[in-house]
Amino acid sequence: MRYAKLGEVPGKRHTQVRRNGDGSPLLVEEVMGYEGFSGNESILLHLQSPCRLDAVGAFTSIERKEWVPDAHVHRLADANSVGAGGDPVTGRQLLMWNGDIEVSIAKPTEQFEGFYRNGEGDEVIYIHHGRGTLRTVFGRVPFRERDYVVIPRGTTHSFELPEGEEQFWVCFHTPGEIETPNRYRNRYGQLLEHAPFSQRDFHAPAELETYDEAGEFPVTVRVRDGYQEYVLDRHPFDVVGWDGYVFPYTFNADDFEPRAGRFHLPPPAHQTFQGPNFVICTFAPRMLDWDPEAVTLPYHHSNVQSEEVMFYAAGDYAARKGVDVGCLTLHPSGLPHGPQPGAVERALGKKSTDELAVMWDTFRPLKLATLWQDNDKPEYALSWNPDKEAAPTA
Ligand SMILES: [Fe+2]
Repeated sequence: MRYAKLGEVPGKRHTQVRRNGDGSPLLVEEVMGYEGFSGNESILLHLQSPCRLDAVGAFTSIERKEWVPDAHVHRLADANSVGAGGDPVTGRQLLMWNGDIEVSIAKPTEQFEGFYRNGEGDEVIYIHHGRGTLRTVFGRVPFRERDYVVIPRGTTHSFELPEGEEQFWVCFHTPGEIETPNRYRNRYGQLLEHAPFSQRDFHAPAELETYDEAGEFPVTVRVRDGYQEYVLDRHPFDVVGWDGYVFPYTFNADDFEPRAGRFHLPPPAHQTFQGPNFVICTFAPRMLDWDPEAVTLPYHHSNVQSEEVMFYAAGDYAARKGVDVGCLTLHPSGLPHGPQPGAVERALGKKSTDELAVMWDTFRPLKLATLWQDNDKPEYALSWNPDKEAAPTA
């Protein structure tokens, strides 16, 4: 990420700073950084010690309900039928996971009580439907449809959601770091000219919220595969200024500048983020391969090492039939996949596609949660066989 700054910070680090000059207490400096003191960091100036607690509450372990299917096949699930409810944190419904990534669907209808901090992972929330503001210790981050909202670990935050607005989010958690791909950046970290986005497309907090306020402020922290509750007696948003390279931000899928070629380009052309053993890609509306002899849809492929999951976000995805906006496909490792029968012929000569999809590929196998089972469409496994078109689902 780039350097950003909000509020008041002194000209030199680690110096004596008082908010209102002599007589007021020293501000408390907090260095929040990755990889010990070797990774990216930000420095925040608090009114109070960020360690200050009023009470320690309960710890609740995360329980995951696994579905172990009785067959290893390509799968389709309809996330439109996932029920809405709950708040933006505890209302997340786990869909799949492995040691590198967890993916949940959230359709919150309630506000989260208090504040939340993920102490063991970075998060990305793709906003399929909805809007709101992520309120954070770094400031306010407004978000809207098609935004990726990236929340670094350690960021105390809450959500402000407009009343009555439908929300439909795809939420990612990783114990690793969410980054832009190395190959898009120069040796200083700046995004290169050929990258599908630039620093201007990433929106840092624009407005700081600083409270010098006493009260009762519940904070839930995800740690050690569970949730630890605390109560603070001072408002956690007490930062008067910060600067550095770590902060929450948004990137809108419509700002992804798609790449196309004379012949088909593989999914790495659509890569948006990288994490440990996974990638997140944006298949944006784009011109299709323009050679008169080009096959405009993907070739069949066997990603012998990858699990490919696609969330269909908008438009018409020509390579798949029976797959609507709001659906997900899982093409697991060990099986080839490609366009369904007839799709390639139908797409020949097409100049452009209006599809928008979010894909995550993991290099290690994924476990499925019972949420997938509840929304699974088992007929998808046979959908490459035209002789099975009229077959009953089973
Ligand atoms: Fe694929």
